[in-house]
Amino acid sequence: MTAPDEAAGESRPADAPSTNGSPAVGRERRASDGPPPVIRPAAPEDLAAIMAIERASFPTDAWSEPMMADELSGAHGHYLVAERGGEVIGYGGLRALAGASDGDIQTIALAAAARGAGLGRSLLRALIAEADARRVREVFLEVRADNDAARTLYASEGFEEIGTRPHYYQPDDVDAIVMKIDVPRWRRRDTVGSGASA
Ligand SMILES: CC(C)(COP(=O)(O)OP(=O)(O)OC[C@H]1O[C@@H](n2cnc3c(N)ncnc32)[C@H](O)[C@@H]1OP(=O)(O)O)[C@@H](O)C(=O)NCCC(=O)NCCS
Repeated sequence: MTAPDEAAGESRPADAPSTNGSPAVGRERRASDGPPPVIRPAAPEDLAAIMAIERASFPTDAWSEPMMADELSGAHGHYLVAERGGEVIGYGGLRALAGASDGDIQTIALAAAARGAGLGRSLLRALIAEADARRVREVFLEVRADNDAARTLYASEGFEEIGTRPHYYQPDDVDAIVMKIDVPRWRRRDTVGSGASA
């Protein structure tokens, strides 16, 4: 995923790949326990819970707490958390400068127990919808080449692979796949049958 400051060399690792990138054949959808999750804007008080998920999800190169705090409070960012029963179980962030026609999905991660139940897609869609509300037309992201779960999610939502950044993720020496989505096209696809148009 995109680093807050690429010059700082931060990068996103992957969770354990479980398929070869094809659309989750044979993967069982996990039933979610407890009350339904709620997605809401992140608040500064969420930092500790977000960092716990960040460190568990990205053991080799988690963002530092000050970096994450900057992201949460940044003027150009839009961070969301997923919460269940008052507990933060995931987060995701968009960066889009005011008036810009493009933006970036900065990060998205769920607590391990919350994965595989559709919440990642919900967070991703909420971030793209925010980009759309900001009149962003293209959203980019970077994903580890070996992160099949994330790549499959992004592709199924309409992101297209547009390039590779060799050896981008260090120290693991894994390439980054750069992906892009056309936001108005995504909106049209998302609203098929509802009569809405771009
Ligand atoms: C990547 C991540 C956010 C996906 O969230 P999730 O809630 O587990 O995913 P969802 O249940 O919403 O699944 C959405 C789609 O993703 C794909 N997917 C999810 N898990 C997958 C897996 N283990 N293998 C293959 N495809 C998978 C499928 O296309 C799925 O659609 P489907 O259920 O209709 O088949 C989550 O797995 C995670 O937090 N991983 C660790 C952190 C990380 O790698 N973040 C991404 C950095 S770029």
